[in-house]
Amino acid sequence: MIEVIDLKKNYSLKDQIITALDGVTLTVEAGEIFGVVGLSGAGKSTLIRCINMLEKPTSGTIVVNGQEVTSLPPAELRKARQRIGMIFQHFNLLSSRTVAQNIAFPLEIVNYPKEKRKDRIAELLSLVGLMEKANAYPSQLSGGQKQRVGIARALASEPEVLLSDEATSALDPQTTTSILELLRDLNRRLGLTILLITHEMNVIRQICDRVAVLQDGRIIEQGTIDELITRPDSLISRALLPQFEKQTISSEATSVTITFMGEAADQPVLASLVRNYDIDVNIIAGNLQKIGKNRVGKLQVEISGKQVNAALLHLMNLGLRVEKN
Ligand SMILES: Nc1ncnc2c1ncn2[C@@H]1O[C@H](COP(=O)(O)OP(=O)(O)O)[C@@H](O)[C@H]1O
Ligand SMILES: [Mg+2]
Repeated sequence: MIEVIDLKKNYSLKDQIITALDGVTLTVEAGEIFGVVGLSGAGKSTLIRCINMLEKPTSGTIVVNGQEVTSLPPAELRKARQRIGMIFQHFNLLSSRTVAQNIAFPLEIVNYPKEKRKDRIAELLSLVGLMEKANAYPSQLSGGQKQRVGIARALASEPEVLLSDEATSALDPQTTTSILELLRDLNRRLGLTILLITHEMNVIRQICDRVAVLQDGRIIEQGTIDELITRPDSLISRALLPQFEKQTISSEATSVTITFMGEAADQPVLASLVRNYDIDVNIIAGNLQKIGKNRVGKLQVEISGKQVNAALLHLMNLGLRVEKN
């Protein structure tokens, strides 16, 4: 759905050149939720503004839904932009317009038939759960409600792609979760492809299928959340999974950290280990959490007995990550 190839973007500021993007390549598949995470200044907004054609790349290619947007003449560019919805951190609503009038705005621009507008607005309001706020003004809404209006407005022209620039960064954790759930719901119901950028790991944890880490204008890590979590040295794995302190209870035992996900997280792995090998297991620390669709567990244990190595091998053969501490 979105293909970015070797994208570079420089800004000139007085006599200085700032490299905001330095050769970014990524592919967002149709129907997925793709997250780009990075610190402030990493180039996230620049990337999204280039994809949305609000910013002209210095070099590189961007293809959205089969159309190379980097080489479109102005009239076609406007049309292509309507296929891309966008939501923002500060909502960018028009304060003098009601909720319904804000959502009507993009419909007016594309000359959506007047007689059908009311129905379309009602449909969009119901999609984001704001039916009863049609005539309210933005100042009368909570942050979460404002973002729902932003989402309804972004979806008015039936885009295939929704771009989100820190859309939950101004919201409290509970409201963030409800907005992320709405986005996941829209992704499923409408088949909407979502590219979201964020500096919050929690957003990545809650809804992304795949993620890229952007640092100083370059992607330094990219993959599905599942893949990255099983790589102990990945930044995503280190950021999403708890880091246990090294603790030793018994100096004779072997101390290991076991990470399990998917099916293995739901199996009584340790019980079967104790039953099948002549060992003792002492749990030192543990954590079980939901990351995207998966439950991911991490355990620090001390194992002692004659068959420790065979037991560890057994765990590895089950597909668990086992690290000796
Ligand atoms: N319009 C601009 N003019 C000059 N420099 C800019 C402009 N927009 C962004 N930059 C610079 O480009 C870099 C990346 O910025 P940005 O894309 O906003 O990062 P992020 O969204 O990850 O915080 C920063 O160093 C920023 O100062
Ligand atoms: Mg930004």
